[in-house]
Amino acid sequence: MAVNESIFLSAHEAHGQQSVQRCDDCGHDLDERDASPACPKCGGLLAIIHRAPLDVMGAPLEPKAVQHAFVQHCCAMPMGHPSGVWRFESLVMPTAGDAITSHPEGNTPLMERPRVATWAGCEGLLLKHEGYNPTGSFKDRGMTVGTTQAVRTGATAVACASTGNTSASLASYAAQAGIPGLVFVPAGKVALGKMAQTLAYGAKTLLVKGDFDACLRLVQDASRELGIYLLNSINPWRVEGQKTIVFEILQQLGWDAPDFIVLPAGNLGNTAAFGKALREAKALGLIAKVPRLVSVQAAGAAPFAKGFREDFAQRYTVQAETIATAIRIGDPASWDRAVRAIRETNGMVLSVTDDEIVDAKVQIDAAGVGCEPASAASVAGVKQLVRDGVIRAGDRVVAVLTGHVLKDPGMLVELHQQRADFAQANRPVEIDASVAAVERVIAESRV
Ligand code: F0G
Repeated sequence: MAVNESIFLSAHEAHGQQSVQRCDDCGHDLDERDASPACPKCGGLLAIIHRAPLDVMGAPLEPKAVQHAFVQHCCAMPMGHPSGVWRFESLVMPTAGDAITSHPEGNTPLMERPRVATWAGCEGLLLKHEGYNPTGSFKDRGMTVGTTQAVRTGATAVACASTGNTSASLASYAAQAGIPGLVFVPAGKVALGKMAQTLAYGAKTLLVKGDFDACLRLVQDASRELGIYLLNSINPWRVEGQKTIVFEILQQLGWDAPDFIVLPAGNLGNTAAFGKALREAKALGLIAKVPRLVSVQAAGAAPFAKGFREDFAQRYTVQAETIATAIRIGDPASWDRAVRAIRETNGMVLSVTDDEIVDAKVQIDAAGVGCEPASAASVAGVKQLVRDGVIRAGDRVVAVLTGHVLKDPGMLVELHQQRADFAQANRPVEIDASVAAVERVIAESRV
């Protein structure tokens, strides 16, 4: 049974520190600069526990003052930071100082797109597009913090296992920090855009003969035995950075929380981070009510959805297969944390088929927004909840789009140019270089 129930460090526990790393399983505390990938006593996952933001006299700040500080911190140079992660520094890594490695990242749009909302049957749907981050996915929010920790602990190399986005992000941030990066990806199962980025940014790329779950086991062993700093989402600082997706959504909505936040789920790092963010936001009085968190898995990679249907009586693993390669994961590492996030928010876990994912993606793409396949699982999930009567008229729903449309160009070319059974295919037309040929195409397609 987890003993990590405290949300913020008490003055008594703090001993002058702003933050500690605490084991989820045995409650053992580590210094915030300790580079251990897991609890040295019992092997449990580490979480960051901060002191709640204080005023100059050392008293807890009022909620309005905390919200105001986020706004001020956004633009008030030289103390402020233009990053949508570091603006929330007091709840992420208050002692980062000069070690910060930032593009900057975050500050992603919350979009209203009636076409997508109508298709999903949810008028109050907003899309939080994390594909607008510097490497095109939400991973940059965790990576800026994880890399900052790597810098301030003097790491000589950083590593991760990845389905592609984490590796692209690690490669970029490691390059910026000047630390060698090593990534473990499943051979033949990484989308083209992600692989191209990883190579371009210069990380040493290992194509592992196995799936993501095998990559994760391997990188954990390698980092333990070779002393390489691990930057997967079990890294507690990655979680701190990813919390800012939720803080930014809440801030964009004037701290008037939506009814639902819906996100795609694979390794469950993001579900865990969203749960922690909401727990902290509620504890600080930044929001009056907690939105219901909905994690959406691909049907061929849905061990967590299976667990949810049985009230999480046991932990499942599956052999994962889905078109949404980002979430092709069968043994999610942050299971227990994600269970807590779903339970605390009266949340839900869904599974959607690959066809439902593609249908949702086609709508998002055709609205001019675009996203990678895994991201569309969130909108497919919204449609399912509307159909099942869980989301009702008047509900305000935020669906998170986790990655950019250019992440997976191979899938799009296949869909639009090669698949005979795809009714909405937008086939390119080869023509002679003449106006007459253009005219014929216009007449035929009624452009
Ligand atoms: N969406 C995208 C685009 C992702 O890349 C991932 C995870 C997820 C959703 C799921 O997030 O794992 O925290 O539940 N990608 C990881 C990677 C596994 O290696 O890039 P999660």
